[in-house]
Amino acid sequence: MPPSMPDPWWQSAVIYQIYPRSFLDSDEDGVGDLDGARSRLGHLSWLGVDAVWLSPFFRSPMRDFGYDVSDYCDVDPLFGTLADFDRFVADAHARGIRVLIDLVANHTSDQHPWFMDSRSSRDNPKRDWYIWRDGTPDCPPNNWIASFTNEPAWTRDEKTGQWYLHLFLPEQPDLNWGNPEVEAAVHEVMRFWLDRGVDGFRIDVAHGLGKDPRLLDDPPELAGVPHSSIHNDPRTHAILRRLRHLVDGYPGERMLVGEVFLLDTSLVAAYYGDGDELHLAFNFPPLFAPWDTSAWRDEIIRAEAEFGPRGAWPTWVLSNHDNVRHRTRYGSEARARAAAVLLLTLRGTPFLYAGEELGLEDAIVAPERVVDPGGRDGSRAPLPWDATPSHGWATTDPWLPWPPDPQTNNAEAERLDGSSILHLYRRLLAARRASPALMRGDIELLAAPAGVLAYERSFAGDRRVVAVNFSDRALDFNLTLSPGATWRVQVASDGSGEGSPFRGNLGPSAAVVLTPDR
Ligand code: GLC
Repeated sequence: MPPSMPDPWWQSAVIYQIYPRSFLDSDEDGVGDLDGARSRLGHLSWLGVDAVWLSPFFRSPMRDFGYDVSDYCDVDPLFGTLADFDRFVADAHARGIRVLIDLVANHTSDQHPWFMDSRSSRDNPKRDWYIWRDGTPDCPPNNWIASFTNEPAWTRDEKTGQWYLHLFLPEQPDLNWGNPEVEAAVHEVMRFWLDRGVDGFRIDVAHGLGKDPRLLDDPPELAGVPHSSIHNDPRTHAILRRLRHLVDGYPGERMLVGEVFLLDTSLVAAYYGDGDELHLAFNFPPLFAPWDTSAWRDEIIRAEAEFGPRGAWPTWVLSNHDNVRHRTRYGSEARARAAAVLLLTLRGTPFLYAGEELGLEDAIVAPERVVDPGGRDGSRAPLPWDATPSHGWATTDPWLPWPPDPQTNNAEAERLDGSSILHLYRRLLAARRASPALMRGDIELLAAPAGVLAYERSFAGDRRVVAVNFSDRALDFNLTLSPGATWRVQVASDGSGEGSPFRGNLGPSAAVVLTPDR
């Protein structure tokens, strides 16, 4: 690509997810808020992230902690005001950090005025904004199963004697994207935020939007599987093309990243269209892969095979607000450090989940403190900023318990300790930013002994080799790439030997980024 046409920012960016409830509380209600998040933008600048994605902060009854929106164009008082949002965006932009927001448009809250109108009578003009069907009093219209409840994805409304569809909680009725008025209303919401300066959207349940009005049963072998994880209707592609057209009409490379929760990379790749649907899509199979060399090798091969030929730019994500943190899943900080090297050096855009840079584990949540109907409280524990009893929050009693060891696993302590995982993330981000190979280069898997995954990234003469030891013992890895050439350790997951020639061995669960000497 000629220098006058640099790759779009979202290809070389590192994007950091803020779950606002859990980031930092500034007003003593125990729930994080926009002002709290704004006050820690300095942490993100220091770390070196390029963009943040804010999980929902819109008005919501909070049955799904904001993924049930009752007003798309206002900030829930828990999180602040529209003026606070504008200040957040202005401060982020002043630091060169872009801002993505969540677009939750597969469904609304049942308290959204649209749904309240829709359910009020069969002939209400908004009736068809949602998906109503007859069924019988005891039997829903089809066999789809809702996420979280594992009950039918339908609720019967006594008043009008029909059932409405909800792929998630009964309090999250699905919008009917087959109705052009719905699409126009969502486009208007997007313009509202684009005009306020957001750089794009993370589209919730992007693969769920289009629905076949026949609403055919899921095949018997899949009955019992939540429908939202298998829904794959071709109508969604045209919807996404129109969303893409809308954001592309704005200046400044606004973008769409879609949550396509289909655990098959070839299906995910289709949501990039011909470069005219999603700019990026989350590819979740690697998130669910075990910490294992061949599993990861396979995921990389699959991503290259599916995304490469269509010119679709991959994404990589290990943790988010819906899953157990990878520090907890993989079982040790050494592995979490090696995983950070992997995440930040693969070909594609990495997404970090707030707190992974601190090596946070999931909180242990006692049964009486469980609040999420989907069992996801552990990864949503509040971020500890320092070692004081309130860990930097405006209260000592946040909405969820702290993650383990907040006296030592907190931002301030780790920033003071050059050997912390936080500093490793910072070194990795800096190494990426300084290397065209890491930001946009090709990837080639290298021969490596059992237990080691190694690959080379290269772009216009810039080269890096990455080697990850997935085993818990020390292993040899002799680089035979260019005989006679020497390689230096640029970043090591355990910090050892950085700046020195690579000696051909990897510590237990250790990973390195190597740079050629010449
Ligand atoms: C997505 C969100 C999740 C939410 C669900 C329903 O999967 O990531 O948090 O519960 O959609 O909106």
